[in-house]
Amino acid sequence: MGYSVAIVGATGNVGREMLNILAERSFPGVDVAALASRRSQGAEVSYGDRILKVKALEHHDFSGVDICLMSAGSAVSKEWSPRIAAAGAVVIDNSSCWRYDADVPLIVPEVNADAVAGFRKRGIIANPNCSTAQLVVALKPLHDRARIKRVVVATYQSVSGAGKEAMDELFAQTKAVFQIDEIVPKKFPKRIAFNLIPQIDVFMEDGYTKEEWKMVVETKKILDPKIKLTATCVRVPVFIGHSEAVNIEFEQPIGADEARDILHNAPGCVVIDRPEPGGYVTPYESVGEDATYISRIREDATVENGLAMWVVSDNLRKGAALNTVQIAETLINRGLIKPRKAA
Ligand SMILES: NC(=O)c1ccc[n+]([C@@H]2O[C@H](COP(=O)([O-])OP(=O)(O)OC[C@H]3O[C@@H](n4cnc5c(N)ncnc54)[C@H](OP(=O)(O)O)[C@@H]3O)[C@@H](O)[C@H]2O)c1
Repeated sequence: MGYSVAIVGATGNVGREMLNILAERSFPGVDVAALASRRSQGAEVSYGDRILKVKALEHHDFSGVDICLMSAGSAVSKEWSPRIAAAGAVVIDNSSCWRYDADVPLIVPEVNADAVAGFRKRGIIANPNCSTAQLVVALKPLHDRARIKRVVVATYQSVSGAGKEAMDELFAQTKAVFQIDEIVPKKFPKRIAFNLIPQIDVFMEDGYTKEEWKMVVETKKILDPKIKLTATCVRVPVFIGHSEAVNIEFEQPIGADEARDILHNAPGCVVIDRPEPGGYVTPYESVGEDATYISRIREDATVENGLAMWVVSDNLRKGAALNTVQIAETLINRGLIKPRKAA
């Protein structure tokens, strides 16, 4: 017996990837409903070799739904996630709306799968920010070995992290550069084609951006509240794939060779690290892949017990859709939910 799954935001970057991943992993879905705004009613999306007709969220009956994968932004999540949970479905929410609620577990299965059991309080589980997800996958095995004190991270985030309109903006601006047309930024605060922007999300009172704040708070919630982290988040003209330059200070000594070995055997991690031209992973190579890639692992002699590394992943997969599906699989594999239609 399979599960009844609804995807809210099925026409978006993340929603489409969720459909791909559910099909690729032969997720035990007996029926999958593709939902979006009224604008998309009747549109078609692919689910494996099937085509699904998109329905409007407000017209859907959630009474038989077991799992709802929410990916339609914070405003929709704020209103709908509690309503859908009240109808009896477990909501796995991709927006930032519920991540910081003490009664909502924030999960990256390779890191804190046990916390998933806390979903019963609200019926909602949150998926982290894309930059946090890949970072904690790489940090967790090193933290287990040598205890992380402090992390300094600079991100190089692709435009797909800001939704499908942001990808269109990079494409249109790039074309405009070659055609010597005028460029008027809409989605981004400045031109993104052949440029980069040191601002993601709004500014906070302390001068950091909200994206940077999210990385701090989410790393503490998922991995360890004692870890100090400071981030600089930058949007770059890459379509898909987030990259991070990470500097870590540990309590205990750990060398680059040992870190390489630990990460080589760690869940979700792939180490590609040869000190030669091309002996590392770039965001382009991460597209469509599930792994978090780690390259350029080296000792940082400027601090005691320091390491530096380069971390790359497909933000639409590990940063969003894949992690969401892995959370659903964790619930099923641990026997925490059963299909309601079978009951
Ligand atoms: N992209 C990433 O790397 C990433 C990573 C982690 C988390 N997230 C989060 O995932 C969510 C979706 O991101 P995305 O990149 O997929 O955005 P997107 O490409 O802009 O897609 C947005 C989706 O939401 C739907 N939607 C918008 N308003 C709606 C409404 N009132 N009712 C129902 N559906 C509505 C859209 O449907 P229409 O087509 O009908 O407008 C579309 O399917 C966001 O909360 C984002 O913060 C994204």
